[in-house]
Amino acid sequence: MKKSLVFLLLLAAVFMFSCKRSGSGFQVAIPSPDLTIHIYFALEKGKPFYMVYHKDEIVLDWSPLGYVFAGGDTLSRDLVIAGTESGAHREEWKPVWGQTALCLNEYNEYKIHLREKSGLKRKFSICFRAFNDGFGFRYIFPEQESADSVFITSELTGFNMAGNGTAWWIPGDFDSYEHLFRTTAISEIDSANTPLTLKLAENRYISIHEADLSNYPGMTIKRTGETKFSASLVPWPDGIKVKTEAPFVSPWRTVQIAEKPGDLITSCLILNLNEPNRIEDTSWIKPMKYIGIWWGMHLGIHTWHEGPRHGATTARAKEYIDFAAKHNIGGVLAEGWNTGWDSWFNGDKFDFVTPYPDFNLPEVTRYAQEKGVSLIGHHETGGHVPNYEKHMDSAFALYHSLGIHAVKTGYAGKIRPEGQHHHGQFMVNHYQKVVELAAKNRIMIDAHEPVKPTGLSRTWPNMMTREGVRGMEWNAWSEGNPPEHTTIIPFTRMLGGPVDYTPGIFDILCVRHAGERKKWNEAHLDKTRVHSTLANQLALYVVLYSPLQMAADLPGNYKDHPAFAFIEEAPVNWDVTQVLDAEIGDYITIVRKSGNNWYIGSVTDENERTMEVPMDFLSPGIDYLITLYEDGENTDLETNPADFAIREIRVKKSDTLTIKMTSGGGFAAIARPAQ
Ligand code: NOJ
Ligand code: CA
Repeated sequence: MKKSLVFLLLLAAVFMFSCKRSGSGFQVAIPSPDLTIHIYFALEKGKPFYMVYHKDEIVLDWSPLGYVFAGGDTLSRDLVIAGTESGAHREEWKPVWGQTALCLNEYNEYKIHLREKSGLKRKFSICFRAFNDGFGFRYIFPEQESADSVFITSELTGFNMAGNGTAWWIPGDFDSYEHLFRTTAISEIDSANTPLTLKLAENRYISIHEADLSNYPGMTIKRTGETKFSASLVPWPDGIKVKTEAPFVSPWRTVQIAEKPGDLITSCLILNLNEPNRIEDTSWIKPMKYIGIWWGMHLGIHTWHEGPRHGATTARAKEYIDFAAKHNIGGVLAEGWNTGWDSWFNGDKFDFVTPYPDFNLPEVTRYAQEKGVSLIGHHETGGHVPNYEKHMDSAFALYHSLGIHAVKTGYAGKIRPEGQHHHGQFMVNHYQKVVELAAKNRIMIDAHEPVKPTGLSRTWPNMMTREGVRGMEWNAWSEGNPPEHTTIIPFTRMLGGPVDYTPGIFDILCVRHAGERKKWNEAHLDKTRVHSTLANQLALYVVLYSPLQMAADLPGNYKDHPAFAFIEEAPVNWDVTQVLDAEIGDYITIVRKSGNNWYIGSVTDENERTMEVPMDFLSPGIDYLITLYEDGENTDLETNPADFAIREIRVKKSDTLTIKMTSGGGFAAIARPAQ
């Protein structure tokens, strides 16, 4: 097998799409524009397969393609080639916001049209796109001569690894991505959610995910053999995976391929495999930082529901607005402003328009506008989707009428109708409905308990950010997130899109209130704290990208704090992003540029490290003044995590900085041209 592939590889280097027809089969090689990646498609005895090479090594061995429909009828055999189409594409496009001001979308495309030889004689196509940084393929179903409704019970797409390696993964949970990452051999994965990131060899990292997830369930990956995997789609309550009708297209199955882990982060592949922006006037879409009546509830100091410790009062909202206005923070979130929280997890008491009596919504909005701050609305649904869908129109209309341009949504609870999952087709369609209704009302969305991002923010740039991660809140009421957590997120969850991790806790050891929290997790009550140093918290503003980025702590903990200057200045939209140095699960150093300034963020796991940071990303011929926020001499994760030091240094492109990070530590810096 391998010999014939090497032959094909050589052929592919000479011809763009080399294909071969033999008695029993058909093979084609689809090279990336730079010829480093080759996808091979083969139809062998009527069955479709694909295989992928990076340089001269196999990344994916022959893997199956196709579907099983309700009734056990398989669309993966007895196929013949009905035609092929090929093309090349190169375009640069500008995201409305993001980690980079410009994306290059360059690929070779090959479509294989297939038809069943007998029986129903169904037709479908598989479209491959080979990029320099990975590839994608999708199934395309045209209208059929037989019945048009399609019930899929299994997608047969395989991901057969040629060998073992290291995997960073969370389980293939159908309802939540809020898990700690496991680092194991590839052969020890049981089932995983995507992005699933693997190290196959030194200089070969891949991440399996999907793009343009629309009207289709989310894909998890399950292990079917030693290092063989198969798509496993999130089901409807009756076990069917996809309920649709022809014509339709599947999401893209994507595999990013990189020699350095950092190149996974700077790749535009997922966005490139989504449709261009559909919102004409984007003037109201504005990335911003925000604070919120939020952490107090997670600590148990405040409550979402009304009562003596109610968080969202008019007075507190105004206090937060004053703080935001003074400190270059664009938005203020108020959770628990509306009635229905007394039966939160039931979800059916929320109408999303009635404020609690101590929260004067029009007055708070007016005050925010007067101060140049945006109020961020909140819709917690408790997972009760029918209730939310009943009230959604009036809920968004209310915010629209008040000139509110951002809403955080939440689905903390079991999805209703009963048996639906957060990541199934029903919910994928619901989340999309919300984004489109929000767009009509000129409202940006920050979705919590969402389905994972798959690049749809290119098409709907009001879909700003989402949770879909075990975020900061877990530090308030569980054993928390270990320091390595934020050294893995950039290479896994964040490859799909922005992450509302809610960084910036300065009171690292947290005020430990009993109260409400006791009910949530008694076992961890005395362990709740943030598992990092303060400098690490600052670094997250560069390391973790979100166009709506929270300063999550209580404003009182930021007041007069010298390190808050970094959060005040941190941009939420970038022209350039570079990963200077990283080992997944150990450390990461990212630099990002906005205007003329560069921002550096670096975090380490539980190990202390001394980093040599070359300044060669800076422009030549200019001196820069760097303000560096780092772990201090006495900073200690266990005993003194909020300690930090500030240094001012003059540097130029040829310099290298030496910076020490303590266990759970990090550093953050701003470099400004000195002239
Ligand atoms: C879970 C969300 O992640 C959190 O941010 C929010 O405060 C609660 N649900 C309540 O909506
Ligand atoms: Ca959550």
